[in-house]
Amino acid sequence: MTATDQNETTDELPFHLTGNMAPIAEERTLTDLEVTGAIPPELSGRYFRNGANPQTGWSDHWFLGDGMIHGIELGNGKANWYRNRYVRTPLIENPGVERMDLYMDPETITFNYDVSTANTHVIGHAGKILALEEGAFPYEITPELETVGAHDYDGKLTTAMTAHPKVCPETGELLFFGYSSLPPYLTYHRASRSGELLQSTEITVNGPTMMHDMVATRHHSIFLDLPAVFDMELAMQGGMPIRWSDDYPARFGVMPRAGTDADVQWFDVDPCYMFHSLNGHDDGDEVVITGCRVREIWRDSADIGGGDFDPTMGPHMWEWRLDRSTGAVRERQLDDQPTEFPRVPDTRVGVVSRYGYTMSFASDGAGGEILKYDMTDASKTAHRFPGGHSPGEPVFVPAAGAKSEDDGYVLTYVHDESSDTSYLVILDASDIGAAPAAEVHLPYRIPAGFHGSWIAD
Ligand SMILES: [Fe+2]
Repeated sequence: MTATDQNETTDELPFHLTGNMAPIAEERTLTDLEVTGAIPPELSGRYFRNGANPQTGWSDHWFLGDGMIHGIELGNGKANWYRNRYVRTPLIENPGVERMDLYMDPETITFNYDVSTANTHVIGHAGKILALEEGAFPYEITPELETVGAHDYDGKLTTAMTAHPKVCPETGELLFFGYSSLPPYLTYHRASRSGELLQSTEITVNGPTMMHDMVATRHHSIFLDLPAVFDMELAMQGGMPIRWSDDYPARFGVMPRAGTDADVQWFDVDPCYMFHSLNGHDDGDEVVITGCRVREIWRDSADIGGGDFDPTMGPHMWEWRLDRSTGAVRERQLDDQPTEFPRVPDTRVGVVSRYGYTMSFASDGAGGEILKYDMTDASKTAHRFPGGHSPGEPVFVPAAGAKSEDDGYVLTYVHDESSDTSYLVILDASDIGAAPAAEVHLPYRIPAGFHGSWIAD
C-alpha cells in the first residue's frame, strides 16, 4: 500500500495513520535539493530526526511504528543530501511479526533488548550516533543512516535505555535510565564522555510506570515517577499497555549524579504526567525543573489525537521548585498555551537556560508555531508558519563563535498540507519571528515524527 493509497482510506484508519502521520513506503536519497533563502555556511553537519513509520502500514499505536530517520546534510552553505532510512532492527527483518513474540521469552519471562523500533530519538555521544526507543538497547547508525546494530556498552548494559538521556555539556557524561514492567522497575545509568558505562544502579519506585524522560542538573539526576502505570490486561490486548492511576503517587526523585538508591530524595507533586522536560538546574538548595505538563494521560484509553482536544489538560509550560533542605515543593503554570517538544541548546542542559523552544499546535486550520520562551519571565515570541504548515520539534544549533545563548539557528521539518510536501526550515533563533533564513524543500512529505538532533561535523 502506498502513502497515497493510505490517505484515500483514512476513514478506516486510526488517527496516527492518517494525513501526515501516515507512513511513507520508500527509502530515498536525493542530492539535488531546492533551497530558498541562504543556508548559513557555518552550519556544517547533519540534522537527523526520528519517527514512527510502520513498515507494514499498520501499528497499534503512534508510539509503536518502526523507526525511520530523515536526515539532511548541510555544509558550505549547501544542502548536500537528504536521506530517509529505517533503523534495521529485528522488527524490520520480521515484518508483521508481533513485537512481543520477538521481545519476550515466555519460558523465562525475560526480554531481548535487541528488539526495538528504535523510533523515538537520535543523539550523538562519544563518537557514536544512537537511535533510541525506551523499551530496548540503543541502535548505532552511521552518518549516512546505515544501521550498525544494537549497542549494549560492551555487554555492560542489562536494561532498556530511555530515549531521553541527557548529555552533560560540562563533563560529557551521558545520564540515563531504563524502566521495565518487571522488577527492577527502574535502573539508573551513567556513561563517561568516552562512552564507557560507569554506573548502573537500581532505584526503588512504587511500581511499573512509563518513565519517558528525566531531568539533569549540574549536580543531580531527577526521576519522574508519575501515575502512568503498566497494565497487564492492556498488554494482553496489544497496543499501549499503560493506564492512568489515581492511586499511584506522583513524585520526583532527586539523586546526586553518582549517587545510589539510598540517596534519592523524593518530592510529592500534584498528579500529572510530563512526557518532556524543558530543562533543570540547581539554585542553592532548590532543584528547578521546567517542562510540558499534562494534568493526566490515558485514563480511558491510550489513544492520541483524533478526539476532542481539551486545552485545560495541557501540555502547558510548568515549573517545579524542589527544596532539598525542607522537602517543600512549589509548582506553577507558566503559560496557558498548549505546547510540546521543548528543547534548550545542548550546551545549556542542566544549567540555567534563558530560552526554551517548543512547538505549538495548529488550531482552526491556522499554521503551527515555534515558540521561543524567555524563562526569566515566561514571556514568549513565536514564529508563525503559513496556514496548513505544521512544524515539528525545534532543534537549536549555535552559531560559530556564538556571543549569546540565542545566537544560532532553530531547525525543524515542516509539512505543507496544500502541496503535501515537507521542508527543512532554518530560523534565526535571535529573531525567531522573522522570515526563515533558509528552507530546503523536498518533492514529497516527511511524516510527522518525534525527536532529532544536530550532529555537527
Ligand atoms: Fe519523547
